[in-house]
Amino acid sequence: MCGIVGYTGRGSAARAVFRGLKALEYRGYDSVGIALMHGGRFALHKRVGRVDCIQDVQEQNGEIGIGHTRWATHGGVTEENAHPHVYQRFAVVHNGIIENYRILKEECLLRGERFSSETDSEVIAHLFEWEYRGDLLSAAQRVCRRLRGSYAIAVLCLDFPSVILCAKKDSPLLVGASVEGQFAASDLSAVARKGVTCYRMENGEFSILDKESVSFFGADGTAIEKTPVSYSLQEQDTELGGYGHYMIKEIDEIPQAVERTIRAFKREIEAVQGLKDVFRIHIVGCGTAYHSGIAAKLFAQKRGCVSTEGYLASEYRYGDQTVDANTLVIAVSQSGETADTVAAAVMAKKRGAKLLAITNVAHSTLTSYADCVLHTKAGCEVAVAATKSYNAQLAVLYSFFDAFSACRERIWKGLPDLCKKTIEASRRVKEWANQMKSAKCAYFIGRRFDYAVAMEGSLKWKEITYLPGDGLAAGELKHGTLALVDESTPVVALITDQAVADKTFNAVHEVIARGAPVYVVTSIPSYANCEGAVDTVLIPQTKEEYMPMLSVIPLQLLAYYAAVALGNDPDKPRNLAKSVTVE
Ligand code: G6P
Repeated sequence: MCGIVGYTGRGSAARAVFRGLKALEYRGYDSVGIALMHGGRFALHKRVGRVDCIQDVQEQNGEIGIGHTRWATHGGVTEENAHPHVYQRFAVVHNGIIENYRILKEECLLRGERFSSETDSEVIAHLFEWEYRGDLLSAAQRVCRRLRGSYAIAVLCLDFPSVILCAKKDSPLLVGASVEGQFAASDLSAVARKGVTCYRMENGEFSILDKESVSFFGADGTAIEKTPVSYSLQEQDTELGGYGHYMIKEIDEIPQAVERTIRAFKREIEAVQGLKDVFRIHIVGCGTAYHSGIAAKLFAQKRGCVSTEGYLASEYRYGDQTVDANTLVIAVSQSGETADTVAAAVMAKKRGAKLLAITNVAHSTLTSYADCVLHTKAGCEVAVAATKSYNAQLAVLYSFFDAFSACRERIWKGLPDLCKKTIEASRRVKEWANQMKSAKCAYFIGRRFDYAVAMEGSLKWKEITYLPGDGLAAGELKHGTLALVDESTPVVALITDQAVADKTFNAVHEVIARGAPVYVVTSIPSYANCEGAVDTVLIPQTKEEYMPMLSVIPLQLLAYYAAVALGNDPDKPRNLAKSVTVE
């Protein structure tokens, strides 16, 4: 995880680096640091806390600097462990994990070098000092040859007062070039702006940024030309626009996200044709992306597609499932950077499978491995808990399976409007949140598509309320979990599928009989006045396979309102980060 930033140019480095760190804060936010180079020395500012706790540094002088926002892996959350790490002439920020850092550190210690942190990253600064013989690029080549694991690094050297050196392997890094200055950052949103030409660095490449320009080099040190990436500034928009939190803003953006995604798919439909010649389909992802894969698996089965399964990427990458040239692997990831999803995709490619990537971030690591890429057009999602990207993932996956199965039916154009109506109908869950915030544990139950959504609802609940929750198949309650149900365990029941509605309703009665306060989300008017339930939200009705796109909305809102009522920051839940680039 973690986010790195660099700036060298005519403007204020402190301001540019701070602004970049704000854009990258979703990657980790337990501590933060900036190193500015000025007057032949480093000015180092490190703090425990979020990016805002370093905002005063923006007033500091300096036209070159690097910064880092951390999600701790090696070493606790302390100022010493915050980046940048400085050793003699070098200051380094790093995203990734140096797997052989113990051996490298041992070597440095034998030379009598002293370390000031417990991180794996500090060893990079020491190696630079050791390998440096007056030429920065050759030193970087020698250092990188010694590193195992993953890294995106930005390095300052006191001998080069306007230069930043960058290198990357298996962690994302983008470089932006402009008349005003040159930027480096872990993702596009932190470098993209008017007048900036952006480049995505590939594994093994180096870049040297100075005040006027950027140069790129291959692993052997020869200069290379790179093609800029195209991007839409609108899609990089991260303004709060009057909202209190990104999460509620992003829930309100679901209708546009779905609408844009359906429209974009129509332009990409041809690409699907080349993927049809397979016997089986595996959908892989983590967290919310996994849950959209589970709903899509049910959708594919409904459309009569070839055998389709959904897998957690972290299990799949080490699993024994059959993956070969007759397999299509669909890797779903909002960020396109999740380490387990990328590793699962790489494994599948190695075994000859076709790879379709579904991401919200163009030019991500996942897209670079894929045979075909379909984009969700959710726009920048900043809140750690995914919302609009889930709905957009469903829109792409459903469109894909319709095209794949040559189903005459096309994803329904009315869905964005139904999303809008669902948001309106769901506002009342704010009251549910007030009642449920003191719950011992909350259960979310449903069958088939409703079960897929129950899992996502419980993930949202846990992520931002910090209260226990579980998403269950309604039929499974009596095989264990019912033993836990009492007055202190609210149950949210999803009833949107007419074919199994009565069955879920039975489960509702079983938990009411055990004293559980029950809250119902239904699209079927006859279940809207469920006797014994505390309250019901009646959402618009559409075919059951499309219902996850709608029924997830009250659950997203419920988690949001409960988190706010509990005094939690819904955008930045403790211990989590949006882009999980470590295993
Ligand atoms: C993290 C986030 C989740 C997200 C998951 C997968 O765990 O906290 O909200 O669903 O990563 O992220 P991806 O970018 O691969 O969709």
